[in-house]
Amino acid sequence: MLDIIEQLEEKRQEAHQGGGQRRIDVQHSKGKLTARERLDVLLDTDSFEEYDLYKTHRCTDFGMEEQQIAGDGVVTGWGTINGRPVYVFSQDFTVFGGSLSETHAEKICKVMDLAVQNGVPLIGLNDSGGARIQEGVASLGGYAEVFWRNVQASGVVPQISVIMGPCAGGAVYSPAMTDFIFMVKDTSYMFVTGPDVVKTVTNEIVTAEELGGASTHTKKSSVADGAFENDVEALLEVRRMYDFLPLSNREKPPIRGTVDPIDRLEKSLDTLIPDSPNQPYDMHEVIAKIADEGEFFEIQKDFAGNILCGFIRLNGATVGVVANQPMVLAGCLDIDSAKKSARFVRFCDAFNIAILTLVDVPGFLPGTAQEFGGIIKHGAKLLFAYAEATVPKVTVITRKAYGGAYDVMASKHIRADVNYAWPTAEIAVMGAKGATEILYRSELGDPEKIARRTKDYEDRFANPFVAAQRGFIDEVIMPHSTRRRVARAFELLKTKQVTGPSKKHDNIPL
Ligand code: HXC
Repeated sequence: MLDIIEQLEEKRQEAHQGGGQRRIDVQHSKGKLTARERLDVLLDTDSFEEYDLYKTHRCTDFGMEEQQIAGDGVVTGWGTINGRPVYVFSQDFTVFGGSLSETHAEKICKVMDLAVQNGVPLIGLNDSGGARIQEGVASLGGYAEVFWRNVQASGVVPQISVIMGPCAGGAVYSPAMTDFIFMVKDTSYMFVTGPDVVKTVTNEIVTAEELGGASTHTKKSSVADGAFENDVEALLEVRRMYDFLPLSNREKPPIRGTVDPIDRLEKSLDTLIPDSPNQPYDMHEVIAKIADEGEFFEIQKDFAGNILCGFIRLNGATVGVVANQPMVLAGCLDIDSAKKSARFVRFCDAFNIAILTLVDVPGFLPGTAQEFGGIIKHGAKLLFAYAEATVPKVTVITRKAYGGAYDVMASKHIRADVNYAWPTAEIAVMGAKGATEILYRSELGDPEKIARRTKDYEDRFANPFVAAQRGFIDEVIMPHSTRRRVARAFELLKTKQVTGPSKKHDNIPL
């Protein structure tokens, strides 16, 4: 019996070596951890339970029958993050470059199926040369099986992808269909066609890093939601984000105990809004002062900075925040910010995460670039996402809420539950200056008259009371009490229930 146990231990040790020490050293020399070392960082100590350690490929072409490596290039199983379960797969670049064979795909599909069945999230650590070249169509079939499962799992369990090496060709479409993509700076890249093909087809000369590195995808394409300095930082940040998420759409997000008093007053918020309506202030400050312990996990922080999206906790419960940022493009809505925030709102709604919207929006960004780029359709995404969301929605207008953007930003009319405004709020069709110039065009030659008209318009509309008189604003609140007011609103909304008309699915303007 002891012999058999020893043999098992040896077999395990051998399998744990993956592609062997030489290739592990190469992996380390690139500043990358191995597939197993990554899981050690991601998961709680000793929590990992591995499946299919001994699985090997079935390929007999190109001498592959001679090259059998236990595990076939991907480590799969489950473990815990701060005590809560998660299914994982971690591609092992030391085994056939982490390339995806039919059996490699079967291993990933097994944990995906279990994740959906058991209502447990899935985290994929991607580091792969793509389709296993020796296998051809069997590998392509394997990819498609993964893709199909990504779609089935979408909205059922959170799916997170971490790109920690190459991810190219059709392989990119599995991460693309997950909820969040994080990348490691300098060592990861994603593209549909690599630099060589790009050069052949379009004559453009570009490096892999320029074409699909972390900076490109977090700042230009917005394919990725965050970039981190190295493997360890990326994995620790994924752990931090994981703590905000529910295990599935059947559950509420976790509650984390807090020592931050819910009635904490923030006097500094009373003086945050500058006297001049054109002067910006940092909306991050408002978020930090509302959130438990000031903690904000921001999504896509390097893209469309005119809107902020991310997770906070209020009284221990996760809340998704969407906030206009006056520091960037005066906080106006444009194509990029609408796409970024609409997707975030839909994630929150799918996973029972309440949404707090902080509004300071002067309208939609004008210009041919926006119109030709389809701002009508893209702006509608955010409007659609808010209107269809049935999770608790609380809105606070801190300053401007002008025009169509007022309606879009979780207004009462599209069924936000509680709408608050600070006394500094201005809710109107447009700013006073623009309005006066249209209404009194004939008086434009008389600056004094125009100034008087502008002042009249401001007195009439540059406040929250016209909207409050109609019940569009439930209460004008003191900025210093925002945390308490918002947290109390969400407390009461915990039991919210709404049912819309029956349908197969909606048709969001994609
Ligand atoms: C089989 C592969 C492989 C692959 C790499 N390897 N990619 N084996 N299938 N796709 C193997 C190498 O032979 C090598 O084996 C080891 O992995 C490490 O590869 P290197 O080239 O030495 O590493 P590096 O220099 O870091 O370059 C990594 C790389 C390069 C850029 C990923 O290997 C590469 O270009 N690979 C091919 C990528 C590709 O064309 N894949 C198919 C894309 S099409 P040894 O034994 O020497 O260690 C695709 C379609 C998906 O993916 C469609 C889904 C619908």
